Parts: sequence; C-alpha cells; structure tokens
Amino acid sequence: MTQRIIPIHSPNFIAESAVTGGLDWAMIFGNTNPLALEIGCGIGHFVLERAQQQPHINFLAIDIYNKGCLKTCRKIDEAGLVNVRVIRSEARYLMTNGLEPESLTAVYINCPDPWPKKRHRQRRLVDREFLLALGHYLVPGGDFYFSSDFVDYAKEVASLIRDLTGYCNRQSDDWVHNLPDYPVSKYMQRFLDLGQNIYYIHYQRDPAVSRSELSTQEFQRGFRADWKQALHD
Ligand SMILES: C[S@@+](CC[C@H](N)C(=O)[O-])C[C@H]1O[C@@H](n2cnc3c(N)ncnc32)[C@H](O)[C@@H]1O
Repeated sequence: MTQRIIPIHSPNFIAESAVTGGLDWAMIFGNTNPLALEIGCGIGHFVLERAQQQPHINFLAIDIYNKGCLKTCRKIDEAGLVNVRVIRSEARYLMTNGLEPESLTAVYINCPDPWPKKRHRQRRLVDREFLLALGHYLVPGGDFYFSSDFVDYAKEVASLIRDLTGYCNRQSDDWVHNLPDYPVSKYMQRFLDLGQNIYYIHYQRDPAVSRSELSTQEFQRGFRADWKQALHD
C-alpha cells in the first residue's frame, strides 16, 4: 500500500536521514535524562500521556506511518511537551542504526499489528529474535512493556520471554488486564470499548545479568524491514 507522504514540519520531528551514524540525545533534548522508546506510536495518545506523567524521561516515538507521526507531532506541539521526539522509521532499522546498546530505560509496544492469520505470523514484530536483540538496547533494570488485545500474540510473547536469559517478570503472572497509570492508546480504547481484555506484559532487563552474558542476536530482516521500498513502489 502506498502512503501519501505529508511533510512534517514540527520542531519535534526528526528526519530519518539524521539517524545514520547515531543521534546525540543530550544535544537533541538539551539534557541527559534517560531515554524511552515507543515503537509503533500510532497517532500518539500513549506517548502524549506517558511523557506528561514522566517529564524527567525523554521519549522517542517511532512509527512507519507518516500520518501517525504527523498526528503525534501535532499532539506533542499543542501540549508544549519538550520531552518527546518523533521519527518516522522502522523499529529494527532505527535501533540498529540510531541507538547505542544499553541506551533505553524503557521500551513500549502497544497493540502491535497481530497478523492473526497463521500464514502471516512470521510478520509479527515481536518474536524470539526481536526479544533477544532488544535486551541489548535496554539498560540493566530497563523496562519492557508489551500490550495486546490479541490473546494469541500475548501468549506467544509471554512464553518466549519467560525462557530468555536477561529478562525478569515485573508481574506475578504472565500478564495482567489492568495496569494502573498505564495510558490508554487509541487501539486499546477501541478494544476496551468493545468489552475486550488488554493483555499487559511487563518485564525488566535483569540487572544481575551483564550484556556480555546475553545471547548475541542481531535484528532479523523482517517483513517490514524493507518498508520504504514497499511504500515507494
Ligand atoms: C495496530 S497499530 C497500534 C498503534 C498504537 N500503538 C495504538 O495502540 O493505538 C500498530 C502501529 O505500529 C506501526 N508499525 C508496525 N510495524 C512497525 C515497525 N516495524 N516499526 C515501526 N512501526 C511499526 C504501524 O504503522 C501502526 O501505526
């Protein structure tokens, strides 16, 4: 599907071309506060509220969806928030090219595309390889939040992450259906309005496990890794 690309002129938008070679977050935000990443920010409901809750954290919100990035920027600009930046980029590309290992205090993935058909499951963003690679980007003790309305996806992530070295569960169960203070995203609201449950998974990069003890894993080239090519065809 081809997206009509609307230019984004917000001061809080960073062009993806700036990513290559790494980004100087202290310069970008004007401080050295910890950095959190939201992958697939959609139209920005979640990051807006989370950044307001946590003004001492810098947030990077990314999405491959141009209009989503535009709407997220509008929300951030209107709220006058200074601790959010938005990049239109694919998650694995951005992390590999723009982030240092152990640079993220938190990673949020809310209602990622579930790819419900069995033959499309390999298109899911979060799989074993993704979780292994992600561990390298979290600081020791850094948080990983995953939420989904789709029980099958939640079950898959819960069973994968449970067995991985370097993560520990922050909850007493695989997931909960209520996470106090956790902002509600557009998709979450849609499913809540339909009376459906949201499955919240919250893990932490185990502070007792050093990065050298984590399995070496680079991000796999996935379905969306060549998103630019696909979008400009
Ligand atoms: C179902 S929507 C959920 C949006 C938002 N998180 C919410 O809960 O309302 C999934 C979003 O993830 C984005 N997305 C999918 N794969 C991505 C990837 N590999 N990197 C970055 N964004 C991605 C899509 O463009 C879409 O906006």
